[in-house]
Amino acid sequence: MLSEARAKNAAMHITGHLLYTKEVFVQCIEGPSESIESLWQSLQKDTRHYDIELLARGPIDARKFNDWSMAFSSYPSLNRYNMPGFFPVDESGMTQAAEQCATV
Ligand SMILES: Cc1cc2nc3c(=O)[nH]c(=O)nc-3n(C[C@H](O)[C@H](O)[C@H](O)COP(=O)(O)O)c2cc1C
Repeated sequence: MLSEARAKNAAMHITGHLLYTKEVFVQCIEGPSESIESLWQSLQKDTRHYDIELLARGPIDARKFNDWSMAFSSYPSLNRYNMPGFFPVDESGMTQAAEQCATV
């Protein structure tokens, strides 16, 4: 899922971050508004999601995740393949990358 999402995001000039802990995903996406709208529609149509909720949306001065088509923070045990752009969460369930997302 992540590699597909990264390829699609790169093609749409979307960057961002995905946090997965306690069976909940929290995602930040940034990019051109048409791309954001298109991905937002796709996310809502994806039946793997339920209770999808928009926390915030608006213009930004600069990207926070310029280097990542989708950085991913989660439990260290999920990083079996040493994937680039993976950030293991600490005991509090957070990473610096995830905190950046929280300040949107
Ligand atoms: C938690 C979660 C996060 C996702 N994030 C992305 C993403 O960042 N980019 C993306 O293209 N698809 C992402 N997907 C997959 C999309 O929901 C969707 O399946 C994909 O964009 C293909 O949509 P389409 O059939 O409308 O083209 C994510 C799926 C899940 C479950």
